[in-house]
Amino acid sequence: SKSIKLAILGLGTVGTGVVNLINDNLDELKRRSGRDIVITEVGIRRQRDDIDPNIIQNSDLMATAASDNVDIVIELIGGTTLAKDVVMHAIKNGKHVVTANKALLAEHGNEIFAFAEQHNVHVAYEAAVAGGIPIIKVMREGLAANKIDWLAGIINGTGNFIMTEMRDKGRPFADVLSEAQALGYAEADPTFDVEGIDAAHKLALLASIAFGIPLQFDKVYCEGITGITLQDVNYAEELGYRIKHLGFAVRRAGNGSGDDSAGIELRVHPTLIPQNALLANVNGVKNAVLVNSHPLGQTLYCGDGAGAGATASAVMADVMDLVRVLGCKDADQQNSNGHHVPHLAFIPE
Ligand code: HSE
Repeated sequence: SKSIKLAILGLGTVGTGVVNLINDNLDELKRRSGRDIVITEVGIRRQRDDIDPNIIQNSDLMATAASDNVDIVIELIGGTTLAKDVVMHAIKNGKHVVTANKALLAEHGNEIFAFAEQHNVHVAYEAAVAGGIPIIKVMREGLAANKIDWLAGIINGTGNFIMTEMRDKGRPFADVLSEAQALGYAEADPTFDVEGIDAAHKLALLASIAFGIPLQFDKVYCEGITGITLQDVNYAEELGYRIKHLGFAVRRAGNGSGDDSAGIELRVHPTLIPQNALLANVNGVKNAVLVNSHPLGQTLYCGDGAGAGATASAVMADVMDLVRVLGCKDADQQNSNGHHVPHLAFIPE
């Protein structure tokens, strides 16, 4: 059967993680999808000599986004200018897009998703929220039939790592932030992490799925962790509490206007929580999202929220989803043992 051809735009921490995941799990990906998954092209500014010679290196990212040699474009360059151009260009050229870019989607998602719908392609973004935790798929699929009352989560790995190291080892803020950068956790501009902006981007994305509303990043109350001192951390511990940076999305009583998004409260800020609360014990680079929904009740999702491997896992989960969708156009999607691989129903209109 036809192989699935990927283009990766940007080979930083996450892009390199995706290449490594594909190399490490090649057989598994094939067995579980029924397809060969191959990187045919990478879009990078400067040529590199450490890349498989079968992969085309293109410094013209717009050309790669539209290449005939590509089924799925994986946008991992970050930022909201060139990234937006390449994503829109890929969509226009009929490519499915996978992105980890929460800033891009929080700011321009309404426009991008509408454009994708017009062009009958998917824009998937599991990696944009909570790193390796498949929280987008949980909200969209697992909890699809529930009415969500609220969700609360630790959704910035860098910030949680900083707060944890300050508490456990008394390390200074700036010192831990440098380490988070070296470990590939932080954003290119780490003020996004420590000022709460990255968490606000993610919260806007989660809320739009949870409540079925348009993205409203501009309505998120946003406060980061830069004002928190070692003393604050230690006093909280003495009192039996812990400081965690949390995002909240809460359904409030409707205001009668008929505008669903008007009754939703969105905020990210440091919060004092009792030490025995589950979220108080999510440490280091881990993220966690607690969701209260009806009729299911509370569920908790936890795992690494940043880093190459965790983020690559989420990127490739989207690729695997898309392979199933693409496979529906082709009846012979079988794995290596000749078993038919079940896929999501895709019903063209
Ligand atoms: N800088 C982000 C974080 C990366 O630390 O959570 C994952 O989105």
